[in-house]
Order: sequence, then structure tokens, then C-alpha cells
Amino acid sequence: MPEIQLLRPDHAPALLAFEQENRTYFAASIPDRGDEYFARFSERHSALLAEQQAGDCYFHLLVGAGGEVLGRVNLLDVADGGADLGYRIAERATGRGLATWAVREVCGLAANRYGLTTLRAGATLDNAASRAVLTRSGFTVVGERQFSSGPGLSYLRGLADFAAPSGAQASP
Ligand SMILES: CC(C)(COP(=O)(O)OP(=O)(O)OC[C@H]1O[C@@H](n2cnc3c(N)ncnc32)[C@H](O)[C@@H]1OP(=O)(O)O)[C@@H](O)C(=O)NCCC(=O)NCCS
Repeated sequence: MPEIQLLRPDHAPALLAFEQENRTYFAASIPDRGDEYFARFSERHSALLAEQQAGDCYFHLLVGAGGEVLGRVNLLDVADGGADLGYRIAERATGRGLATWAVREVCGLAANRYGLTTLRAGATLDNAASRAVLTRSGFTVVGERQFSSGPGLSYLRGLADFAAPSGAQASP
């Protein structure tokens, strides 16, 4: 499995390559980031790092043996013990359980490293792969929701089963 790394300044080139190579693939399921995102990637990267530094978000990259980015799993809008989960996997790395594995790993980090108790997620009805990932990762449907790309569902997952036993120390 790839390594899960918290976003760093030096990830910028590999992350940009990942987003460029998979732009068409991602846009088939979720809204395209737009040309502006790619034109001003460096600025955007710095802004994400500042948000992460402030504890508002945690951006994780799935990094392969050669330093290539194979996916990302993000925790956004961290507040009151909760956060929004988002993820995307490189087209060439899909279909072998990577998203399911990475979501579970990040649930563990959310509980034990970031002190969160709940994660929220959403997926459009036509995104069967993403809905499968959420269901297999223990998320349950809590309502319907309208996305810019179509109707979808809201999901929630409590993290109590990931919490380290009382007295155990979260790894740094
Ligand atoms: C959705 C996404 C993250 C899945 O990544 P992945 O690594 O292939 O996911 P996994 O292999 O862990 O699991 C996907 C599951 O969905 C299933 N699946 C894939 N396409 C499917 C389809 N059209 N219908 C039903 N199930 C489907 C797979 O069979 C797999 O289940 P299985 O292991 O029981 O066979 C990836 O396709 C992606 O990045 N898509 C574009 C961005 C996106 O949609 N992000 C989520 C936003 S909500």
C-alpha cells in the first residue's frame, strides 16, 4: 500500500501532476476544478498549507514508492469534533481497494491524531464506487442532499471504534 503523508510544500509538483493526469477521470464523477485551479496551483497549494497549519483542515496524500501521488483523502472544515471527508484516487490505481483502505486509515488518524469524534461525507447517487467506499468504511446514510452535479446522499460516521484505549498515546 502507498504511504499516507500529510500535505507538505514539496508535494506540489507530484500533486499537480496527479490532478492534471486525472482531471478528465475525476470530472466524470465530481465537479471539475476549473482552469484557474491549474493556472494558480502554487498559490492554492500555499493556501491549503496555511489552512492545515491553522488546524482547519488535514490534507493527506497517498504516495507511491516512486514519490508519485496515487490519491488524496482530505478532512475539511474541522470544528467541534467533526470534519468533512473527501477523497479521490488516480484512475490507474482504482478498483483494488485503495480508497476503502485509505478512508479507514484516515478515520484512525482523525480519531487518534486529530481528536475527532465524527466524520461527514457525501456522494451523488450516480457515484456507485464512492457510495460503496463509504458503506464499506462504516458510514451510514443520514439524509438526502443536492450537489451541483446532481442528487446525492449525506453520510455520517462516529469514530468511537477507532479511538485508542484510554491511556494510550496517539503516535505523532
Ligand atoms: C470513487 C473512488 C475514490 C473509488 O476508488 P477505488 O480505490 O477504486 O475504490 P475501492 O477499490 O476501495 O472501492 C470501490 C468499490 O466500488 C465498486 N464499484 C466501482 N464502480 C462501480 C460501479 N459503477 N457500480 C457499483 N460499484 C462500483 C468497486 O467494485 C469496489 O467495490 P468492491 O471492492 O466490492 O468490488 C475513485 O473511483 C475516484 O477517485 N473517483 C473520482 C473522484 C470521486 O468520485 N471521489 C469521491 C467523491 S464523493
